[in-house]
Amino acid sequence: MGLRLLSLSDFGRRRSTAVSTFDPGFLWGAATSSYQIEGAVAEDGRGPSIWDTFAATPGAVRDGDTGAVAADHYHRFPEDIALMAELGLRAYRFSLAWPRIQPSGSGPADRRGLDFYRRLTDTLLDHGIQPWPTLYHWDLPQPLEDSGGWPVRDTAERFAEYAALAHGALGDRITHWTTLNEPWCSAFLGYATGRHAPGRREPAAAVRAAHHLLLGHGLAAEAIRGAGTRAGITLNLTHVTPLSTEPADLDAARRIDGMQNRLFLDPLLRGAYPADVLDDLREVTDAGHIHDGDLKRIGAPPDHLGINYYAPMLVAGSATPTQTAYVGSPLVRVADGGRPRTAMGWEIDEGGLLRLLLRIKDDYPALPLYITENGAAFEDVVAHDGVHDADRVAYLDGHIRSCAAAIDLGVPLKGYFVWSLLDNFEWSFGYAPRFGIVHVDYPTQRRTPKDSARWYAEVIRRGGL
Ligand code: FCB
Repeated sequence: MGLRLLSLSDFGRRRSTAVSTFDPGFLWGAATSSYQIEGAVAEDGRGPSIWDTFAATPGAVRDGDTGAVAADHYHRFPEDIALMAELGLRAYRFSLAWPRIQPSGSGPADRRGLDFYRRLTDTLLDHGIQPWPTLYHWDLPQPLEDSGGWPVRDTAERFAEYAALAHGALGDRITHWTTLNEPWCSAFLGYATGRHAPGRREPAAAVRAAHHLLLGHGLAAEAIRGAGTRAGITLNLTHVTPLSTEPADLDAARRIDGMQNRLFLDPLLRGAYPADVLDDLREVTDAGHIHDGDLKRIGAPPDHLGINYYAPMLVAGSATPTQTAYVGSPLVRVADGGRPRTAMGWEIDEGGLLRLLLRIKDDYPALPLYITENGAAFEDVVAHDGVHDADRVAYLDGHIRSCAAAIDLGVPLKGYFVWSLLDNFEWSFGYAPRFGIVHVDYPTQRRTPKDSARWYAEVIRRGGL
């Protein structure tokens, strides 16, 4: 692959930059999460999670799919790690299943759960791959949901207790920890739209959940941070543009940017909730769940920020109320940006990633940034000689170029993780969408690296594009 020029003119800057190499220490990785790949949901003492319950609810997940077997990674992790090593991955982002470590969500740790993650971690280290764990990627122990879930404050305390147990067992071999994956999804898809577990449709509960997730992050980070341990968080952020300069569209953009980005970034990085978003939410719930001192704990600066980016958002005002996850803002809608889309229907725009990174650099105090998820589902075709996923290669190529451009423009971006290493259980969409750079044939569990995996291995080997 030859050197190509990335024109920044369409990003509103009059320069172009050659994209070639990244810093030798740049962390190239791939990501997965526990419920999406592990399977073995009833093995070695694992307790039920909200996703087991939700997936068993008729109509909740496409085709009635569940994570019961998934990619069987629980049994096949040695093979999967050997594959990671072959691809030359420097780091592997995975999540720990809370219900394996604390099956009921409280009390002592189950040794078998910890042992699994010890074996996984040690195998990664043996292959020279940095383990990059996330403590919570949405699989809340069901008993904690039965006691109220994230809308109740106690769940944040339980999360910190679990974090301390996990760190106590693995902190000697893992330096970089992530508390939460995408608290926006946990709060607003889980408790407002009901599209994710636990499937509740209670806007006020969703707002409380968002705060308790952030508090849980703060408490967990306090519990594990120390000599040799860094604690960060991963957010799903996007670049929001108004459809026009009409006041209703500008207001929609302010509101959606507020709920999707600033509701999380501001308390974490500035120690305060954005006043306009609190105003928008006042109709949904009062702020009684925010206690004195909470923001101090939430706002203790994270050691790194993980960003999951998939697509930008073009938004507009709506004359009639719409059903969205943006509680408190019913008069907003997502507009069509007219760009090509992935199999998820998400618009493809790597420019949105560059703009997002520059915005974080401009608006927030500097801290090490990592793209902890970026990738795409496409209709992969399995041919006799492999999976030729040129569309995925193009998607990744464009977004990695945006990473390079961002670094060039001063963004402290330190790593990039492809979503995903393996095809997996894509939540309420079941197994239909395929995000992997490695194809999984579910009936046989056979792994086949797609063209994108070979391409990515080459990017890593060359240290860039
Ligand atoms: C993110 C999730 C991840 C995966 C991708 C496609 O929101 O963190 O688990 O589902 O989307």
